[in-house]
Amino acid sequence: MTIAIGNDHVGYRLKQAVIPLLESKGYSVKDFGCFTDEIRQYPIYAERVARAVAGGECEKGILICGTGAGMEIAANKIKGIRAVCCSEPYTAKMATEHNNANILCFGARVVGTELAKMIVEAYLDAAYETRHQVRIDMITEMEQTNTLHKMIPDDE
Ligand code: RB5
Repeated sequence: MTIAIGNDHVGYRLKQAVIPLLESKGYSVKDFGCFTDEIRQYPIYAERVARAVAGGECEKGILICGTGAGMEIAANKIKGIRAVCCSEPYTAKMATEHNNANILCFGARVVGTELAKMIVEAYLDAAYETRHQVRIDMITEMEQTNTLHKMIPDDE
């Protein structure tokens, strides 16, 4: 599996710790930048990673900024992306199991290196539980039509 990774200037150093973990777990990593701790605009890297995942070039993505929030918001603007910002491993595990999240975001100003590694492992080691597919399909419907109208049963 190939993982797309991206960051802004705040996330640059934490990315250096995450990439070796990914490689040690057998993943290929495609680094979409940035490659500096000088100020950069996070939507640029969110879009690059999100397009790589949505287009099938990479199976999953990881985005790191100060909080993870900006990356999450920006990545979710690309159709087909389910990006989740996680500050602890439980949400990261559930983001895979229940939400089939295809991008994990977190913040270098929020989590330390070791916690970030635990979040990444929880996200990647989990497996999607397909019983949640009806909800994912509803989210996709909202993405495509801006409404859930056609998918809500008459009795709800
Ligand atoms: C940059 O100062 C900061 O806004 C960015 O890293 C991120 O936290 C945005 O959500």
